[in-house]
Amino acid sequence: MARADLLKKLFTGYQRRDDQAFKQAAEELIVEERKKQHSILANELERILRNGHSEQGTLKRLVPMEPGPTDSERRMALLEVRQPQRYMDDLVLEPPVRCAVDRVLREFREWDVLEANGLVPIRRVIFCGPSGCGKTAMAEAMSAELAIPMLYVRFDAVVSSLLGETAANLRKVFEYARRGQWVLFFDEFDAIGRSRDDTTEHGEIKRVLNSFLQIVDNFDGRSLVIAATNFEQVLDPAVWRRFDETIRFERPQESQLKLLARKRLNPVSSTDAQIDRIAAAFSGSSYADAERACLDIRKACVLRNSRQVTDSDVEDALARHAYRQSVLRKASASDAPTVDRD
Ligand SMILES: Nc1ncnc2c1ncn2[C@@H]1O[C@H](COP(=O)(O)OP(=O)(O)OP(=O)(O)O)[C@@H](O)[C@H]1O
Ligand SMILES: [Mg+2]
Repeated sequence: MARADLLKKLFTGYQRRDDQAFKQAAEELIVEERKKQHSILANELERILRNGHSEQGTLKRLVPMEPGPTDSERRMALLEVRQPQRYMDDLVLEPPVRCAVDRVLREFREWDVLEANGLVPIRRVIFCGPSGCGKTAMAEAMSAELAIPMLYVRFDAVVSSLLGETAANLRKVFEYARRGQWVLFFDEFDAIGRSRDDTTEHGEIKRVLNSFLQIVDNFDGRSLVIAATNFEQVLDPAVWRRFDETIRFERPQESQLKLLARKRLNPVSSTDAQIDRIAAAFSGSSYADAERACLDIRKACVLRNSRQVTDSDVEDALARHAYRQSVLRKASASDAPTVDRD
């Protein structure tokens, strides 16, 4: 347990937005932990404080961050820094997924120990699986668990219409990432990881993918790179080799839907029969669909000023889901819009 006076100093520094006072208290706390032989904790606190920078005396997370890279054609930001809001406990995970993620987190935390023994921790992970089953949510949760911010790569900005500019943008992204410690997240990674044999793609995508593979191979930053896709079948075989770990997020089984419903309905009370009804209704769907219905149910309770879910709250939410599904089905089945001519 840290000394009470140090904790008070730390909190007062934060409260007054006094970076200098906060930093001083945080550094004293690190020294204190080191004296107690808590060197892993001390190292981790130090790394969080400096956000991966080893020079003494720099406080990267509290001073305004270096402006992120932009696309030279349109001046759009290539990256977004996200402070994650969810933890692993907010997610329902199958045991193999939980196991794989725990291993990644453990190796990342023990980077120095592994490196000192000539071993390389897992640094690149690819997530695949259907939409709405937790890929983005997990990347966020891992960033929260590691207490490092997420750098979210904005593909709309990275992919440029100018020849050669996309690869240059990717280089800027990794160059920026190298100067800190992050979860560097490439969502919808198929946008650049597509197979070079794909005949629907023109030559530029081949060049972009080659550049990506080369940059990733040479990337020596102390970050965790995560790529996510729900079109894994289009990925180039060379992409898979670049990732140390592959984790697949499947659609939930009924037992997992029950766990999700309990988590998302909390803090309102529900009966076992209502939970069973929700789980059965979403069998074969994604976590995202079931989550939406649970949040609808909670809203109904809040608006009624009640802490108890009623059967009609559940039926209303399920009816809204069924209607939404029918609209989506019609939208995907309909042909391109026809123009009425007189
Ligand atoms: N395993 C899970 N446990 C709990 N909630 C989940 C899980 N998977 C998804 N969710 C919820 O569903 C929503 C959508 O999830 P997420 O954005 O992670 O899906 P995704 O796999 O990234 O989908 P896409 O491929 O469309 O990007 C999130 O709000 C998240 O809370
Ligand atoms: Mg996603």
